[in-house]
Amino acid sequence: MYRIVEARTVGLNIRQFTVKAPRIARKQRPGQFVILRLHQQGERIPLTIKSADPAAGTITIAVQAVGKTTSLLNCLEAGDSILDVVGPLGRHSEIRNYGTAAIVAGSVGTAMALPTAKALKDAGNHVIFIEGARSKEMVVFEDEVRAASHEAYILTDDGSYGEPGLVTKKLDELLAAGRKLDFVLAVGPVPMMRAVAKITAPLGIKTMVSLNSIMVDGTGMCGGCRVLLGNQSKFACVDGPEFDATLVNFEVLMQRNAMYRSQECRSLKAFEQHKREELAALRDGLAAKEKETAQLHARLEMREKDETHGKPEAVHVAEEEKRHA
Ligand SMILES: Cc1cc2nc3c(=O)[nH]c(=O)nc-3n(C[C@H](O)[C@H](O)[C@H](O)COP(=O)(O)OP(=O)(O)OC[C@H]3O[C@@H](n4cnc5c(N)ncnc54)[C@H](O)[C@@H]3O)c2cc1C
Ligand code: FES
Repeated sequence: MYRIVEARTVGLNIRQFTVKAPRIARKQRPGQFVILRLHQQGERIPLTIKSADPAAGTITIAVQAVGKTTSLLNCLEAGDSILDVVGPLGRHSEIRNYGTAAIVAGSVGTAMALPTAKALKDAGNHVIFIEGARSKEMVVFEDEVRAASHEAYILTDDGSYGEPGLVTKKLDELLAAGRKLDFVLAVGPVPMMRAVAKITAPLGIKTMVSLNSIMVDGTGMCGGCRVLLGNQSKFACVDGPEFDATLVNFEVLMQRNAMYRSQECRSLKAFEQHKREELAALRDGLAAKEKETAQLHARLEMREKDETHGKPEAVHVAEEEKRHA
């Protein structure tokens, strides 16, 4: 069980959670993610580790509600728990001193790109952060973006905040003004990442994209996250999630991500109709699980104590059998 120690809304349908996960907090590197499951029948969803505090044993994630699981997760508050959090998963971002590095991120992609932006800045790069969102309510983590970069540009599609337009407009402007970019990382919706790659590939700028393919196990076993790079199949969970943008087949990625759209829509609709009941059932299930775990710990502790005082194993077996009879 992974306790949520802090939960807050940071944008329209976007929440940030700080979760107790000491082992993951110690091991994670920029660009890595976790796969979590809210309850025993729940689906597994991948979420990038936005930051970690090894001393406090916590990791922070930012979640945009797009379907059933992310919507249910975003109903949780501090004090609630998450059933499973597995990680850190995936290969971490390659951090080098490239020179000038541009981070191009869309909405919740900003949270996903922040750790890499910080690490690139610490490695001596001049970091330019271009954050885009549909509208003002979806602009997130602006202060952190400014702190992680030397230059930050905020754009909204509808012009309600920052400069009007898409992130690619700013990228084009910088290049047209003669700015030399040595490295670009794009994180966000697939059409945005594809558009960035179209701009940078002809200029030979090393460009990485963080692929958001559908994932199940996150260990390279199920094949759910298969992506096509040139003629080669790769698994985003173990070979990525970051890949060289010039090699990625974005059309195949979009087709695969849309494979379950009708089921996803049905499931979200059903969730919205029974939101309260679903949340109550989730909390009841987690409370029962917590009780079960506490009882198991207490039994193990008692057994350890008894064993140090010489109570024979056969007595424990008889007691266990009696309990389950
Ligand atoms: C490595 C990785 C890291 C991620 N990090 C974050 C993160 O930090 N924060 C965050 O909010 N989201 C992140 N995502 C996306 C997140 O996993 C999905 O939004 C989530 O799985 C959707 O689950 P759902 O049940 O709520 O929606 P579903 O009902 O499964 O899907 C609803 C809609 O979201 C689309 N979708 C489904 N899976 C994905 C996916 N993997 N990526 C993008 N769209 C998807 C569907 O096509 C559909 O339109 C990440 C994805 C990957 C692969
Ligand atoms: S999620 Fe199963 S192989 Fe990647």
